[in-house]
Parts: sequence; structure tokens; C-alpha cells
Amino acid sequence: MSQTAEPTPTVPALDSIESIIEAFRERDYVCDRSLATAVFLGLRLGRPLLLEGEAGVGKTELAKTLAASLGAKLIRLQCYEGLDVNAAVYEWNYPRQMLEIRLLEARGEASRANAHDIFGPEFLIRRPLLQALESSADGIPPVLLIDEIDRADEEFEAYLLEILSDFQVTVPEIGTIKADKPPRVILTSNRTREVHDALKRRCLYHWIDYPTAQKEFEIVLARVPEAPERLAREVVGFVHRLREADLTKVPGIAETLDWAAALLSLGSRELTGEVVDETLGVVLKYEEDIRRIRGDTARTYLAEAGVAAGG
Ligand SMILES: Nc1ncnc2c1ncn2[C@@H]1O[C@H](COP(=O)(O)OP(=O)(O)OP(=O)(O)O)[C@@H](O)[C@H]1O
Ligand SMILES: [Mg+2]
Repeated sequence: MSQTAEPTPTVPALDSIESIIEAFRERDYVCDRSLATAVFLGLRLGRPLLLEGEAGVGKTELAKTLAASLGAKLIRLQCYEGLDVNAAVYEWNYPRQMLEIRLLEARGEASRANAHDIFGPEFLIRRPLLQALESSADGIPPVLLIDEIDRADEEFEAYLLEILSDFQVTVPEIGTIKADKPPRVILTSNRTREVHDALKRRCLYHWIDYPTAQKEFEIVLARVPEAPERLAREVVGFVHRLREADLTKVPGIAETLDWAAALLSLGSRELTGEVVDETLGVVLKYEEDIRRIRGDTARTYLAEAGVAAGG
């Protein structure tokens, strides 16, 4: 039976700053030139990119968007306190090894068996870092996202430094496993502590700031396309005013998007004082912040943000 080849979706080369902006845009990620330049250089120089910024400014999403744009697999290592090699690189599959020993015993081969019979690659549980070194074998190197590195312990950071220098891991029982093509690496940090200079030196660095009102407006239109422009503008204006306020936790882009979506589902097409009061919990997540803003302050902010109806 003759078959016409399915057209494969084209994967852009991402060989210029413009092509990155465009490819990200197609995936609803609004990327300004300075960030696109950092991504471009990371790809071109084969260096990890360390992204720092407040919560919810689009660090994690950038890695996902990059993987999608490259047609590459995304491998994510979420960091936390106590993260160790067993969880990050590899672990022996003990139950499977035990089973193998039982089988060898049952076949009467246990006495002739040696370590290789139970310490082979098939008994390894591959954790994200090892996966990232091995999965480049099928062509496109994966995007390795090492998310929230500031939450991991410093010893882990030192270990990571080694992996990011050589893109290889040594498993004593098997040998050294080296990536054919090194993965594209994105590290993120919320800066709860400083990342060490040694690790920073390996990376290109970019600070993602809260977006300008114009950029955030574009993000809302991209992510909540049903939102009328007026509502999008008002929501962004109000959130920007909130970011200047003295709050326990100022809203990130995620909250702006949630708010726009929430307002839409309530059928609100514009912001009024009443609507703000009723929905503040979507944007502010601390009771004291909500209490501070609700009421008169909300109305003042609406006026300052240039929202006509004070309601
Ligand atoms: N430039 C952008 N374009 C489109 N959407 C964006 C952009 N930046 C952020 N977002 C959206 O905002 C939300 C938060 O982004 P993300 O989770 O990447 O933030 P983060 O910086 O990783 O935050 P955290 O530090 O809390 O993990 C996501 O829903 C994401 O889609
Ligand atoms: Mg994140």
C-alpha cells in the first residue's frame, strides 16, 4: 500500500533573535528582545541559561516554550531541600535486583552469577539528570529544566556544577555515561539564596523583571484571548498599581491571567470597585493584603490606573 508521507511539523531553527521571538510568540509566550538574546546566546554558545526573577514572571514557562519551539523533549528537575543524587541522577532498582537474584537462585545459577548480572543498565532507575544525558541519542538534545535551584542544598549545587561542566555521570558499577549532544539547560532561581559564583560562571544570566504594562497586556491577550481589550488593559493597570503597593506578596503574571479569566467567567467586561472587592482573592493571597486594598484603596487605585468607572 502506498503511503504519502505525513508532513512533519516544521521546527524553526531558532538561529536568530527574531526567530526566537516569533517561535515563542506562536506558543503564546511574549518574549522581549533582551530575553530572546539571552536564549539565543545560550543556544549558540551551548551554555546553560540561569534565569532569576520574582515568582510568576515566566521562568518555568520559558523552558517549556523553548522545548516546544525546538521540538525537543523537556526534562524537568524540580529542586527542593534535601534533593540528592538518588532523586536527581540515578538509583538502583532494588526490587528488580532482588527479583533477578531469586530467578537466578531458582535456575540454580546464583553461585555462578556476578555483579554484572544485577548491576547492569537495565537495573538503573534514571532520574532527570541521567535522562537528560541519555536522551540526546535520538537526535534533538532535550531541554533540561533545573527548576528553583536556590531551594536545593549547596552540596547539590556543587555536584551539579560537575555535571554541567562535562555532561557526564559516572556510575561506578557501569562506567561513565556521557551525552552525545549536551542538553540545552535552563536553570531558574527565585533568589531565596544566592547561587554560587562557580555555578553562575558556567551559565549565562538573565534577570526576568515584572513585565511592562504593554508586555503584560500582550500576555493577557495571548493567554486569555477571549478577554476584551478594555478589560485586559484595566486588569493590567490595576495589577501594576498593586505592584507598587506595600504588600506581603505582590501579584505575578499568573495572578493577572487568573484574574482576567475569573472576571470573564463572571461576565464582567470592565473593572469597577465592586468587582474588584469581590474578586481580590484571585490576585492577592494574603488576608492582610486583601484587607488593605479592599474598599477605598481599591477605588483610589482604579482612578490612578485610569479606570473610568469607579463603581
Ligand atoms: N512572557 C510570558 N508570556 C506568556 N505567558 C507568560 C509569560 N510570563 C509568564 N507567563 C504566564 O504566567 C504564569 C507564571 O509563569 P511561570 O510559572 O513560568 O513563572 P515562574 O517565574 O516560573 O514562577 P515561580 O517562580 O513561582 O515558579 C504561567 O501561566 C505563564 O504561562
Ligand atoms: Mg517556576
